[in-house]
Amino acid sequence: MAGPSSSPASRSAASLTNNEARSLFVLSAVCVAVLANTFQGDGEPLIASLAFSGLAYAATYALIRWLGPTFIRAGLKGVDMSKHTRRELPECMGAVCAVVYLLVVICFIPFPFYKDIVAATSGGGNKDVVLQVEHVEQGRFLHRFPHSKLASYLSAIISLQSIAILGIGDDLFDIRWRHKFFIPAFASIPLLVVYFVDFGVTSVVIPLPLQPYLGELLHLGALYYVYMAAVAIFSPNCINILAGINGIEVAQSMVVALLLAGNDVLYLLTPYPHPATDSHLFSLFLLLPFLGVSAALLAHNWYPARVFVGDTYCYFAGMVFAAVAILGHFSKTLVLLLIPQAVNFVYSTPQLFGLVPCPRHRLPRFNARTGLLEPSVTVWAAERQPNRAVAWGLTVLGRLGLLRVTLGAKGEFVETSNFTILNLWLVWRGPLREDRLAKEVLAVQAVVGVAGLVVRHRLALVLFREDNWGVGDVL
Ligand code: UD1
Ligand code: MG
Repeated sequence: MAGPSSSPASRSAASLTNNEARSLFVLSAVCVAVLANTFQGDGEPLIASLAFSGLAYAATYALIRWLGPTFIRAGLKGVDMSKHTRRELPECMGAVCAVVYLLVVICFIPFPFYKDIVAATSGGGNKDVVLQVEHVEQGRFLHRFPHSKLASYLSAIISLQSIAILGIGDDLFDIRWRHKFFIPAFASIPLLVVYFVDFGVTSVVIPLPLQPYLGELLHLGALYYVYMAAVAIFSPNCINILAGINGIEVAQSMVVALLLAGNDVLYLLTPYPHPATDSHLFSLFLLLPFLGVSAALLAHNWYPARVFVGDTYCYFAGMVFAAVAILGHFSKTLVLLLIPQAVNFVYSTPQLFGLVPCPRHRLPRFNARTGLLEPSVTVWAAERQPNRAVAWGLTVLGRLGLLRVTLGAKGEFVETSNFTILNLWLVWRGPLREDRLAKEVLAVQAVVGVAGLVVRHRLALVLFREDNWGVGDVL
């Protein structure tokens, strides 16, 4: 039997239009020219990173298109449940993003170290690099080359490679939720080791009003590593469960990445050299190519989707954020930018922890008659009613407008909406078209994120005496 890839329709769906091919070619040519040009100066890593990100966009865009039928033939496919015609789409396209991303960040390695490589190998005109005796004794510049910076970068790559492998494994074998939940913690070990060796700061600054009671710093010791591992577990998983409508996984990740990148740029614009500038530059080197591959994926995954991203993408995206936040020493800022995901996670706990039955899919229900999405529900059979405590909780949430509860004639539970913020938004707003729902939730996320950053930099001055954008960075 002819596979889906051999029909003329899917062949044309798998090739680029002339316009697309021309645009991608021009973009790639410009990026290569910019890259070649950076060698003339000091390697200008930020410009090189932008050019690499453009190349990453072009490569991902073309590969996703070309590889769609191959993925379907390999069994990596899923049905788009919120459409009239239940078409099978290629699944796990985040794997393409991950592979292109990893190749790009690996090829990029020489650029940020260009000056150092020249200085370390030949002196390269930098004969005026003079080592102070005290530095030699402390061993800080013993090798001239910033091995620790390279170690940070490499540890991020190892963590991301591990999470990509685990994500692909999940997409292939559909690992159970309770088994895959802790997997990112293992992938974060390289980051934590580098953090231990490089920074080793395990104390948090106490807000001013609490300082009389708790002192200036709270030393968390080993707990700080538990906290960072928790960030690494939380970040990928919370993106994976705010999912199920076209474009939402990629677009929410791009919002977080753009806000993190915006925050990084603030540190590059300070009028005087800032101690945290280097780590924020490092964060940009990892975020820009991520934005490149994600934009190419979004072009295919936005409503009406032509491909699905798979758990690979969600895990990968979350790990990129965890890596930059842990190594850049700004995990609190990351947590602030993941507030909508955190709310979704906390709201989901009754289903995640089994108090309320959790169906395999909790994505909103497609009403084929109206073409709109409605909240999906958990059905309560008459003989399987919630216990008293859960019933009380459901009733309270229903009264507060935080859940849609449908009761039967005898007051028994018939249906409750599933515990995701996508369903909750539909409870509040009424039925919406899929792209409308995505846009509204993304707008809320962007507003909350920008407000979070403003509060983070403004309130920091009230609570902490100094904002680390302004003076030293302690957490
Ligand atoms: C997570 C959610 C699950 C949600 C699913 C949707 C939890 C605990 N798990 O599970 O409730 O239903 O994501 O991604 O909250 N799909 C669509 N349209 C889309 C995106 C996905 O129909 O826009 C369907 C497709 O059939 C696709 C499948 O969802 O094949 C992918 O689901 P998967 O990512 O494997 O689900 P989980 O991450 O395990
Ligand atoms: Mg998923």
